[in-house]
Amino acid sequence: MASNPASWATGGPVTSPFARPRGMRGRAAGRFMWWTNKQHQEDVLGALDIRPQDRVLEVGYGPGGLLRLLATRTEAAVIRGVDPSAEMRAAATRANRAAVRAGRVTLGLGTADRTGLADQSVDRVVSVNNVAIWPDLEAGLRELHRVVRPGGTVVIAWHGGYSPGRIARRLRLPGDKLDRIEDALRKIFGEVTRIELRSVDVFKAVR
Ligand SMILES: C[S@@+](CC[C@H](N)C(=O)[O-])C[C@H]1O[C@@H](n2cnc3c(N)ncnc32)[C@H](O)[C@@H]1O
Repeated sequence: MASNPASWATGGPVTSPFARPRGMRGRAAGRFMWWTNKQHQEDVLGALDIRPQDRVLEVGYGPGGLLRLLATRTEAAVIRGVDPSAEMRAAATRANRAAVRAGRVTLGLGTADRTGLADQSVDRVVSVNNVAIWPDLEAGLRELHRVVRPGGTVVIAWHGGYSPGRIARRLRLPGDKLDRIEDALRKIFGEVTRIELRSVDVFKAVR
């Protein structure tokens, strides 16, 4: 998984080690993200509304901070993750060692548009700070719609919110790109809401 496709949001190649964590720079970016994205993950955990026995998929788990919250603060039965970076898979495995050993957290290599999961096999899907990196927005959303069960939810969050920090102010998406995400979700999901949380803009879609 070493290709470097362009982002649908910018049209340009994605080269940042935060978006393509590879090698030493990628591992350093992962350590940085572990600390800087904590507030985003707290915000998103609340919006996810995980119920006991839920099967959850995180797309683009990075160093595994949200996986750790899911494993320690919810009663989700199954927590799966896909991310194209082998470096992030190693970091997220270290951060969730006990839950991985117990078989509650399973981390794979994959992308938003190729998760490798079966149809309708999860109750919740979540993606934090990675939608704008995807090469093809619509292909990613179609895949997430495929893997979530009818009545299940997909939550997509990106830097922004009503009290963005310095990094989020720089990375937040312009209104037309946020509208494009909402429109693309509305074409395939039954119910779509857009929420501004403290540090992230969030889309919640029900299949
Ligand atoms: C900025 S990091 C965010 C990581 C984590 N969600 C967090 O909030 O700390 C972006 C992550 O998205 C992953 N990624 C890049 N392209 C992706 C794609 N097409 N589908 C899913 N994940 C992708 C990267 O490998 C990286 O781990």
